[in-house]
Amino acid sequence: MPRARLAVLISGRGSNMVALAEAAQAPDYPAEIVLVLSNRADAGGLDTAARMGIEAMALPHTGYATRAEFDSALSAALKARRIDVIALAGFMRILTPGFIGAWDGRIVNIHPSLLPKYQGLDTHARAIAQGDAEAGCTVHVVTERLDDGPILAQARVPVRADDGEASLAARVLVEEHRIYPAALAAHIKALGLG
Ligand code: GRF
Repeated sequence: MPRARLAVLISGRGSNMVALAEAAQAPDYPAEIVLVLSNRADAGGLDTAARMGIEAMALPHTGYATRAEFDSALSAALKARRIDVIALAGFMRILTPGFIGAWDGRIVNIHPSLLPKYQGLDTHARAIAQGDAEAGCTVHVVTERLDDGPILAQARVPVRADDGEASLAARVLVEEHRIYPAALAAHIKALGLG
């Protein structure tokens, strides 16, 4: 079976993108990363992807008047590369329902909380403020509702008494890098795409 053609969408440093790219180097991984795309031209992950030999493309959202116009430019870039599956990895843009509907079940996201807890931003600060005993991360299928949709995998880490946002984020990030490649691979196989 041919491998699924994967696009990874980022906005920043791209450490989850690297975890996916390293996993995809295994010959039995069900996807190959065809494109890394960022809505911010200064995303560090773009240089990292290029160094790894992956096509890296900046598509600044500031060049488009509406979300719909940005999403249609994004669609064009993805279609031109015959992308099958999209992995959001720190992509800080809300996608339109029209875009998500067109990719029905084929967009996956990693979110740094134990969903359904703490959708949105500042997840680690909120977990600490609430006095939670554990935090974590979730891989889920993207639906029209932000940080919602069927959960594919979760990992938990303890919140320590002396944790600040940065130390907790670092501990969760280790788990993100572990579960995202595995959950994405299982989902691609379940879809029959790779
Ligand atoms: C990760 O914590 C991810 O869960 C969140 O944004 C962060 C992106 O980090 N959505 P990186 O760019 O993958 O290093």
